[in-house]
Amino acid sequence: MSNTLPPLPYAYNALEPFISEEIMTLHHTKHHQTYVNALNAAEAAFAQASTTKERIALQAALKFNGGGHINHSLFWQNLAAPSEKGGSGGVLKDGPLKEAVIASFGSLENLQKEFNTTTAGIQGSGWGWLGVNPSTKRLEITTTANQDPLLTHIPVIGVDIWEHAFYLQYKNVKVDYLNAIWHVINFDEAQKRFVDATSGSKL
Ligand SMILES: [Fe+2]
Repeated sequence: MSNTLPPLPYAYNALEPFISEEIMTLHHTKHHQTYVNALNAAEAAFAQASTTKERIALQAALKFNGGGHINHSLFWQNLAAPSEKGGSGGVLKDGPLKEAVIASFGSLENLQKEFNTTTAGIQGSGWGWLGVNPSTKRLEITTTANQDPLLTHIPVIGVDIWEHAFYLQYKNVKVDYLNAIWHVINFDEAQKRFVDATSGSKL
């Protein structure tokens, strides 16, 4: 059972003032660690299960905790210190991703507006996604519930819409969190994923 908590690629306070050090510390060391521990436990139980019924009974735990581990691992890479503090967060440079954003949404501002509206509408917990449609190779916005990983599209940007991602700082005002997160989105990482997704090998 080899799932482990990946280290953050920046300090816990690197995303301030947009995401607080307290949120990042708890989110990474407590929430994500719990998904890793529970996934390892579920995988160990699955390996030892001797009947089909026992294996079926573990499916929900594997999906929930496996999805939680995959989604959070992607999410940390997805973020970077804001440009206001000398980081690359929030800056969409000229390149293939920017061209695709303009082709699909007209502008980055339109993408952000549509993304925020769509994800603000998630009922309960879930994730907002900017992903590549494997058929059209175009960027699309979609959501998943709970900790379901994105399977219909290739993820380019994923945003955690669970309350544990924002409540300590933004309380119930989800839209403030959504507006803030764009200041720390790592568009360089997003472009890398976009290029990988549209290069042909994964489609
Ligand atoms: Fe989370």
